[in-house]
Amino acid sequence: MNARQRVEEKKPSILVVDDLAFNLEVMEGLLFKEGYRVLTALGADSALGIIEKSPVDLAILDVMMPGMNGYELCKRLKNLSGRRFFPVILVTALNELEDKIRGLNAGADDFLTKPFHTIELTTKIRSLLRLRKMQSELDHSEDIIMTLAIAIEAKDVYTKGHSERVGTLSMEFGGYLGLSDDDRHLLFKAGVLHDIGKIGIDDYILHKSDDLTEKEMRLVKEHVIIGENICTPLQSAKNLRPVIRHHHERWDGAGFPDGLKAEDIPFFARIVAITDSFDAMVSIRPYRAPYSIQEAITMMENEQHTGQWDPTLIEHFVTMMTNQLGCDR
Ligand SMILES: [Fe+2]
Repeated sequence: MNARQRVEEKKPSILVVDDLAFNLEVMEGLLFKEGYRVLTALGADSALGIIEKSPVDLAILDVMMPGMNGYELCKRLKNLSGRRFFPVILVTALNELEDKIRGLNAGADDFLTKPFHTIELTTKIRSLLRLRKMQSELDHSEDIIMTLAIAIEAKDVYTKGHSERVGTLSMEFGGYLGLSDDDRHLLFKAGVLHDIGKIGIDDYILHKSDDLTEKEMRLVKEHVIIGENICTPLQSAKNLRPVIRHHHERWDGAGFPDGLKAEDIPFFARIVAITDSFDAMVSIRPYRAPYSIQEAITMMENEQHTGQWDPTLIEHFVTMMTNQLGCDR
């Protein structure tokens, strides 16, 4: 790649979609002058082809197009771009509230009503690109913490892979319970991060094979508070913090750190309490050999009403795991 190509690559890229070639040419000239890399598509099909091949920073879609209209295309493009924030501006000839509501429902981030002024267009683009940059920085910092959580436990043979497994199992369990994709994604992240506070606990205590002293036990319990504090500056982890703080609460109120009882314990924390315990049971520990999956299921089933876990959730979890075991046989 030569220097000129590198400069081109660094420019924000904008996909413009319209069914009229003339409109595309006008928009292309205008955005090019503003210093953007412009990709044009004559209609929705061509736009979908482009976005699958090359990443784009923002899309400007004409609403009135034959075949797939701008609303539909907006939904498709948002889905294709995954969880990243992908800004879309809808261009419409109408200025009806109903059209805007339809656009918002399709996930549009802003609107332009024809005829529009160049400065209106460039201001909207700049502000959405700024938002997108902030979002990706946020994603990046979240990724760093997730990687850190996995790296911390990787050095320890007893906990290696535990958080990732808890994340995956929690997400799976969320799916079994019929939760939305967003909730399942949140459960995965919460599972990965639930024990991140152990970074602040002495390795000697974490790896001790003898019984812990009262003081050591108190220190271990601190990991839920430390974990919550680590994630506090991260706005995007706001919904994860209750899971990190409360994954050791017990249904009967005898858990820690707050002694919450039954449904006062956040729902996702009750889920992770189960998946965390299950993974701990089937993993090797300094003080015991692992249980088999069947043994762990039976133990959880027997303890359904002893007060540790949400009895309804345990019932579902046991059914899910038993079904899985049946399929694996
Ligand atoms: Fe924990």
